[in-house]
Amino acid sequence: MSELTDLYAQIRVCPKCVLAKGRTNTVPGEGPENAEVMMIGEAPGFHEDREGRPFVGAAGKLLDELLAGINLKRDQIYICNVLKCRPPQNRDPFPEEMEACKTFLDQQIALIQPKVIITISRFAMARWFAEQKISAIHGKPKKVGALVVLPMYHPAAALHQPSLRRVLEEDFARVPQILTEMAHLSEEKPAPKAPPPQQLSMF
Ligand code: URA
Repeated sequence: MSELTDLYAQIRVCPKCVLAKGRTNTVPGEGPENAEVMMIGEAPGFHEDREGRPFVGAAGKLLDELLAGINLKRDQIYICNVLKCRPPQNRDPFPEEMEACKTFLDQQIALIQPKVIITISRFAMARWFAEQKISAIHGKPKKVGALVVLPMYHPAAALHQPSLRRVLEEDFARVPQILTEMAHLSEEKPAPKAPPPQQLSMF
């Protein structure tokens, strides 16, 4: 059993918060263990709770279209949520629920080791940029250690406010270039003498 499969098994029986009582299924996340891109949403909704898979409802359909726009398929990225169980009536996660679930997301990030994390919920964004507003930092990649974190609007927001679809398309369009730049940096051999600090042009 891989460590990720083992983690899914732990999530499936998690009793750590009140959401365990109301769930039909846990929604641990899915995608390849060696994915370069990881997306983190908020929490499962009605359809996700029924199927045990992330982003299978209307927001997921839009997510698939946005990915197709940059020639990525769902099965090439890793998708999960801050919470692994659905909050009643899709209300916002409570701090104690996020705290109870945090260790699962920590382990997913440590096991997948993505190059880029796209946060598509303010609760995921708050993990790195607690004081910031999504309207100010969406689409702006930030280096956090070896990782790039790219905050984006939630696809569901574009379902309510159609003008945001264009914004999401533009933000998604940055992903291929970020991956290319990161690949070039990791390919470069160390120079014999102290090199000037390397910088990704997008940051
Ligand atoms: N919204 C989310 O944030 N996550 C899902 O899995 C579905 C909808």
